[in-house]
Amino acid sequence: MEGKSRLTLAAVGAAFVVMLTVLVLGACTAQPAASPAAKQAEKQAPAQVAAPKFVGSETCRACHAKQYDSWRNTIHTSMVRPIAKGDLKNAKADLTLPGAPKADQYDWVYAIGGWYKEERYAYRNAKGDVVTGEFEYNKPRKQFVLRKDKEGNPEALDWINSCGGCHSTGLNVETRKFNELNIGCEACHGPGSEHAKDSSKTKIVVDKSSEACGQCHIRGSDTSGKYGFPVTYQLGKPDTLLKDFKPIPMTDAASVFPDQKNSNRHRQQFLDWGRSGHAKANVTCVACHDPHQGALNERKADLRAKGNDLCAKCHEKQSRDQAAHAGHALDKATCASCHLPKLIGSGSVSTHTFEAIAPAKTLQYGEKMANSCNTCHKDKNAEWADQQYKRIFKK
Ligand code: HEC
Ligand code: HEC
Ligand code: HEC
Ligand code: HEC
Ligand code: HEC
Ligand code: HEC
Ligand code: HEC
Ligand code: HEC
Repeated sequence: MEGKSRLTLAAVGAAFVVMLTVLVLGACTAQPAASPAAKQAEKQAPAQVAAPKFVGSETCRACHAKQYDSWRNTIHTSMVRPIAKGDLKNAKADLTLPGAPKADQYDWVYAIGGWYKEERYAYRNAKGDVVTGEFEYNKPRKQFVLRKDKEGNPEALDWINSCGGCHSTGLNVETRKFNELNIGCEACHGPGSEHAKDSSKTKIVVDKSSEACGQCHIRGSDTSGKYGFPVTYQLGKPDTLLKDFKPIPMTDAASVFPDQKNSNRHRQQFLDWGRSGHAKANVTCVACHDPHQGALNERKADLRAKGNDLCAKCHEKQSRDQAAHAGHALDKATCASCHLPKLIGSGSVSTHTFEAIAPAKTLQYGEKMANSCNTCHKDKNAEWADQQYKRIFKK
């Protein structure tokens, strides 16, 4: 049973208490416990070592009001919202559309997402487990789709094992309990009880690696095949991300374009980024994204600067004269429109390889392979775009 808990653990400077508890926590057993693994580990830990527990974002607020207030405004806080039998008011979708879930159909528990791509709904089944059901609202297309399993029955996935690790904070997969819905402070900083008690003595983790985001912005399954997320990632130790987790292969046609490089499915940013020049140059997620800064209802992707200003920070030459670089004045196309084209989730999510995908790829791999140019030039075909591309970029 070793290592089967989703623990976002502290690995601060070598001298810390936390280091010891990493070992202890990694080996927790299947005993039921009222709160996450940390509690249990505390019992097993040597008496002088205090294992940090998850205490929740509200506890951090007292001393970190600035980070708390801006984090509150990120989508990270508002992904999973409670619903109940007879009460779907926290759903965002238009429930008058055909195929929508009915308020008294199930013992509803959560509405999930609904901000840009899709909304899903979870309910409690007869056994008492929370499952994600068959209803999927496609937001860009404004329509409901009914998902089916392999046998053709309405889909019902175990919410903890398939979704829980990425949509909650402090999940222990053994006890099937988590500490907080959504992405709280401790999803990125690790359990904070000791730090909150005495911040001068106990540091907390600040993990600036792309892996810290990649623990959720990834697709695949853990090596046991049971969980859809990396269960043994240890914050501050980027190498642990892929230790017990197999990302989807690039040959997976349902998730990657035929060039076997660019994703065509959402939450694969870490995989795309890993194949980019930015990964090689160690330009991580937080170089471009501010982890605390958000804007609910106005999707800005929590970026560190607006539009082309972000890229201009490091790419002076292309930004100074975009027309010379790419044949388009600034008011016609942005850096992101070519280098992060929104080709995923009915146009709601962008690729993260930063490749301006050439129309030649469409000609080579066929219609399934989208390119950066025809995303805007929809009335033109790939042959036209290919010729123009070759003319502009002299390739
Ligand atoms: C009792 C007050 C208090 C509470 C509660 C508290 N902190 Fe802190 N925290 C501090 C102080 C003081 C510092 C040190 C600030 C400095 O050195 O600039 C700090 C520093 C930090 C840092 C920066 C560490 C670094 O190495 O740069 C992070 C991240 C952090 N806290 C996160 C949290 C989180 C997450 C929680 C909730 C689980 C939390 N804090 C709860 C007082 C607190
Ligand atoms: C514990 C899981 C988890 C971690 C860790 C995590 N994310 Fe997320 N992130 C999510 C989920 C889930 C969503 C989707 C929320 C929704 O749509 O309701 C999301 C959404 C986002 C968005 C979309 C916001 C928007 O306005 O469209 C950005 C940007 C983002 N995350 C960046 C990051 C970065 C950068 C990091 C690392 C510093 C990170 N995330 C770490 C789970 C996580
Ligand atoms: C999605 C991941 C993520 C979440 C959620 C998150 N943080 Fe952070 N936090 C980071 C990262 C990464 C850094 C380092 C940023 C940098 O140096 O650019 C950081 C830095 C900090 C710092 C150091 C000072 C600063 O602002 O850079 C404090 C304090 C802090 N976080 C507190 C919190 C608190 C409190 C919460 C919850 C209200 C929280 N964080 C939620 C990822 C996160
Ligand atoms: C490995 C982590 C991970 C797992 C497992 C996971 N998700 Fe997500 N999910 C994310 C991240 C990260 C995002 C946001 C990034 C993106 O959309 O590209 C997201 C986005 C979503 C969205 C779109 C939100 C919106 O506002 O449009 C929905 C709905 C969703 N997830 C539901 C689920 C359900 C249901 C499950 C389980 C069957 C699940 N997720 C499993 C990480 C995960
Ligand atoms: C924090 C600095 C930084 C920021 C911000 C940044 N880049 Fe980069 N970028 C680099 C570095 C460093 C390299 C690698 C060296 C090089 O090729 O210039 C690179 C390489 C690239 C490359 C060529 C390599 C490849 O993967 O194809 C492209 C294209 C690119 N960046 C586009 C962008 C775009 C578009 C933005 C804005 C969304 C952006 N960059 C923001 C630092 C940055
Ligand atoms: C070089 C800058 C850069 C880096 C590095 C980067 N992103 Fe982004 N990201 C962007 C930009 C720009 C957008 C907005 C694209 C748009 O809206 O046109 C974005 C959008 C997103 C979104 C919102 C969904 C979407 O596609 O619009 C998520 C989620 C996200 N990034 C996650 C990540 C994660 C996780 C990492 C690290 C593995 C990462 N990003 C690395 C620049 C970057
Ligand atoms: C109309 C589409 C388009 C726009 C807009 C665009 N680029 Fe590019 N960019 C490309 C293409 C195509 C390449 C060449 C790809 C290759 O390597 O074959 C490229 C290459 C790059 C490179 C690699 C080095 C080089 O110059 O060849 C960087 C860095 C870059 N772009 C940054 C930017 C930045 C920053 C912006 C915004 C100011 C931007 N691009 C706007 C299409 C575009
Ligand atoms: C963000 C959307 C966008 C993207 C992405 C984009 N373009 Fe454009 N393009 C425009 C706009 C807007 C114009 C100006 C149209 C006008 O003035 O009638 C334009 C004009 C052009 C023109 C000159 C007008 C003409 O019909 O002769 C060419 C050629 C062109 N684009 C080729 C490309 C190629 C090649 C790519 C891919 C590398 C590309 N575009 C990517 C929006 C885009």
